[in-house]
Amino acid sequence: MRIQIALDHHPNRFECDAIAQFHRRHPMNALLRRGAALATLVAALPGAAMAATLTLACGSNAADIENCLAHAQDWGRRNGHTIKLYSAPTSSTDQLALLRQQFAAKSSDVDVIMVDVVWPGVIKDHLLDLKPYSKGAEAKHFPAIVANNTVDGKLLGMPWFTDAGLLFYRKDLLDKYKLGVPGSWDELSAAAKKVMDGERAAGNADFQGFVFQAKAYEGLSCNALEWVASFGGGSVVDAQGNITINNANAARALDTAAAWIGSIAPAGVLNYAEEDARGVFQNGKALFMRNWPYAWSLAQAPDSPVKGKVGVAPLPAGAGGRAATLGGWQLAVNRYSKNADAAAALVMYMTSPEVQKKRAIVGSYNPTLPELYKDADVQKANPFMGQLLDVFTGAVARPATATGLKYPEVSRAFWDATHEVLSKKASGADAVRRLEGKLKQTRRNAW
Ligand code: GLC
Repeated sequence: MRIQIALDHHPNRFECDAIAQFHRRHPMNALLRRGAALATLVAALPGAAMAATLTLACGSNAADIENCLAHAQDWGRRNGHTIKLYSAPTSSTDQLALLRQQFAAKSSDVDVIMVDVVWPGVIKDHLLDLKPYSKGAEAKHFPAIVANNTVDGKLLGMPWFTDAGLLFYRKDLLDKYKLGVPGSWDELSAAAKKVMDGERAAGNADFQGFVFQAKAYEGLSCNALEWVASFGGGSVVDAQGNITINNANAARALDTAAAWIGSIAPAGVLNYAEEDARGVFQNGKALFMRNWPYAWSLAQAPDSPVKGKVGVAPLPAGAGGRAATLGGWQLAVNRYSKNADAAAALVMYMTSPEVQKKRAIVGSYNPTLPELYKDADVQKANPFMGQLLDVFTGAVARPATATGLKYPEVSRAFWDATHEVLSKKASGADAVRRLEGKLKQTRRNAW
């Protein structure tokens, strides 16, 4: 089986290029080497006819890719399979677009796919039912995630890690300015202003108060849902499929966020995804950051300028309380894979307690297995996981279940409307009114 790796995204792209060049110059050599490698493999493995080359999507930032691939390759070595990396685009929106093209072509290029928590209803026809392979292992994961991954009775993905929006803050700077962790958006805004002014006056010219994700993509829908829900403005479309976004609380939430831009947040946030915000915060250039749990382990890394200076808290409350958007990823098998059995076995391994524990410790990926939240090593590496358990279990879902196949259109309309308000091209009230109209057109008679 020939495997396609997207070299443009590959971390060892130059190495791959060099190898490819060598093989172009010495084609015979390459053939001989491949033949010899195959012969060794066939001789060494009992049941070698079953040996497969599996391509998997694995992680969405450099550190995670390395960590994830190591687990998969370890499993491959033990089971006589070769593992190749498919380096997916980092943004969930771009990943989905690419996947849909591959599915349309019934491509078998990628065997194991990463599935965002909002996709099962969107790509359900292209994923293999894992029930015959799981032997009931799903029963150990959070039931709500398993339910989300189950469509028409089929288990379309095994839970891999869960996410919820969190507030990361600089403990040292809050102490320096004698400020507490903000409990409300107003407190966050006031603290950000005070520290930003102080730090800038002290010579830290590009210091920012608050960074988050406001680029026009899925991540903005996640941030905006947190603002809207915490202002009591609902979740765009409710569980019954009613379009609820056109309300004064939602409008106020978007106007409030718009006022941060150019005051406590740089205008650049309009183009920030997760890694952009993390870059600024981790370089010591911001007081607050909204991000997912993965940012913790990287902020604590030995070479991180903010190591030991970061705290994690629930996002602040608006008039309607606190809200964190539910995120997270599953692993699934491409229905068009030519190696379904081996791919499903790899998925079961990658989502097992053993690997989830290691990924939680090394990469601060929240396990989907409740038992791991009691694990002493996981707690030691990530104190926030236990302390903020209710944030993870009470997170607000995006309206993916209610809107099914149309969720990507709904989300795009929501992030577009939000982006207009943040760029001061529309008021919150106008934007939510127009968004309601757009969503009615999208829904027509039914979702
Ligand atoms: C995180 C979340 C995912 C979300 C994405 C948006 O990866 O886990 O659910 O869609 O961020 O950028």
